[in-house]
Amino acid sequence: MANQKGGVGKTTTALSLGAALGRMGRRVLVMDLDPHANASIHLAYYPEELEHTACDLFLLETASPALWPRVIKRRPDAGFDFVPGGIRLSELEVDLRERKSRGLILRTVLEAVGGDYDYILLDCPPHVGVLLVNAIVASDLVLIPIQTDFLALYGIRLLFDTIRLLNGVLPRPVRFMALATMHDRRAGACVKVLRMMRKKLGARVFETVINLDTKFREACAEGKLIFEIDDQSRGAVEYMLLAKEVVAHEEDS
Ligand SMILES: Nc1ncnc2c1ncn2[C@@H]1O[C@H](COP(=O)(O)OP(=O)(O)O)[C@@H](O)[C@H]1O
Ligand SMILES: [Mg+2]
Repeated sequence: MANQKGGVGKTTTALSLGAALGRMGRRVLVMDLDPHANASIHLAYYPEELEHTACDLFLLETASPALWPRVIKRRPDAGFDFVPGGIRLSELEVDLRERKSRGLILRTVLEAVGGDYDYILLDCPPHVGVLLVNAIVASDLVLIPIQTDFLALYGIRLLFDTIRLLNGVLPRPVRFMALATMHDRRAGACVKVLRMMRKKLGARVFETVINLDTKFREACAEGKLIFEIDDQSRGAVEYMLLAKEVVAHEEDS
């Protein structure tokens, strides 16, 4: 989940899509790569109380499978396993400055657990930097949540610049799909932006649209996932549809 704009639904998508894929019987790992650690806090992991976070995985010189059991939290209630993040992630930019192939770290460490999961979802920070590059390089698909308002659409340019830059050095082009989030179909401006997204990006926009649903904030406040609050709510149903689309998409490719 990547978009350098904040508040567009990256974390909500990582958690809700993760839970939806889990409900479909898929083995899922969600990783919080955001120094703000919103996903972690949502799941009641408070970074200041944690000994091990996603950060540890970046600081090892060599990928050690032994580290994984210490950073992975099992959450059968949520439907996925989870790796918490923390503010320490923001220092990686400096820590890794001298490291060779620093964009490949996550890709390499994920090899140790890749076989245990059908899907690994990476919740990215809202800025372009070493974490975002690592996440994109490690991914088969970059899911870009875009809030259907004009400013949000304008904001994705920076992300596309990063993708283009990486396409110049990676062995295969970065695959991406955009997801319309927080859509308000009664608002003319939103409908217009959604139409513009479909026109510009065509098949690279998911059919599924995530509409506004107050249940997300409710879930957040209660430290639960939307499925635990109300699995018939619009948001829960739409993330289930998205999960089905993601699975179908993958089977096609
Ligand atoms: N479809 C939605 N409808 C209503 N509120 C939403 C929706 N998706 C996310 N939110 C709320 O919007 C806020 C920002 O979403 P979040 O997923 O944290 O964005 P990001 O990770 O991109 O910063 C959160 O409070 C979240 O609960
Ligand atoms: Mg977030």
